[in-house]
Amino acid sequence: MKVRKAVIPAAGMGTRFLPITKTIPKEMLPLLDRPVIQEVVEESVLSGIRDIVLVTGMGKNSIEDYFDISPQLERFLAEKGKESLLERVEKVSRMVDIASIRQKEPKGLGHAIQCARSLVGDDPFAVLLGDDIIDSRTPCTAQLIEVFERFGKPVVALQEVPLEDVHRYGVVQGEEVEPGVFFISRLVEKPDPDQAPSRLAVAGRYILPPEIFTYLEATKPGAGGEIQLTDALDGMAGKSGIYGLMFEGQRYDTGNLLGFLIANIQYALNDEELGPQLLAYLKNRVLQGGE
Ligand code: UTP
Repeated sequence: MKVRKAVIPAAGMGTRFLPITKTIPKEMLPLLDRPVIQEVVEESVLSGIRDIVLVTGMGKNSIEDYFDISPQLERFLAEKGKESLLERVEKVSRMVDIASIRQKEPKGLGHAIQCARSLVGDDPFAVLLGDDIIDSRTPCTAQLIEVFERFGKPVVALQEVPLEDVHRYGVVQGEEVEPGVFFISRLVEKPDPDQAPSRLAVAGRYILPPEIFTYLEATKPGAGGEIQLTDALDGMAGKSGIYGLMFEGQRYDTGNLLGFLIANIQYALNDEELGPQLLAYLKNRVLQGGE
């Protein structure tokens, strides 16, 4: 069955970015001159999905406004003859159809997905976390869909992380059934390093069948007192089996300050105009011993 909808949970409190997240959602922080979430939405579009279900929370209206049309601004740019800016602004507002729903309390990622149930319906759907960006040749979501279409089971994106970092992720136990594809028998949310079943962590991309909602309903609050998607997936793994894919690409977690800075530096270095200037500046700084 075709994956036609994507859920983007963006209702987290973003406490690691306080105080700015008092009024600016972390998904709206800049990746160069656009918000981080635009990169996530573009991955969805490039994977063939234009129907987006956005899970938002208090103070997150600017995300919906950003993807809506802005007649006054568009008229202003047209009158001033600023064609290329107008083109960029129009592209954003015509890129996707967004339906949004509020998660009234931030009770965890699993709960945020549950909130999307009525808008998702009875079809399989993709989940892309609003603060995780993945730079890859083939969009990560398209890579997962390819595996989903072959196996007909849920698929999660996997990446290998250092042992000292496993406590920040959902971690899987699995068997490699073909290069890069794992059959997963168990998932653990934020394990201690000595309890982790592997160093294979779930990155912020999933393809899920509608049955996940039944598992989420039965999921009790887990790590951090939150309803964890990992726990619901663990239930599914035990019953019907799920798959993981070591995707091709580089993931940046922009939900923490260092990851956010690294993503911006990397995207700036890749930019034709900014790249050489930033590189010259950075080289100079390093030569001066970072002073
Ligand atoms: P995070 O744990 O990275 O987001 O959740 P957070 O809770 O905003 O982070 P901090 O620790 O307070 O800084 C991963 C993803 O799940 C969403 C977040 O918006 C993010 O995309 N999420 C998390 C929700 O939508 N609802 C929640 O209750 C929790």
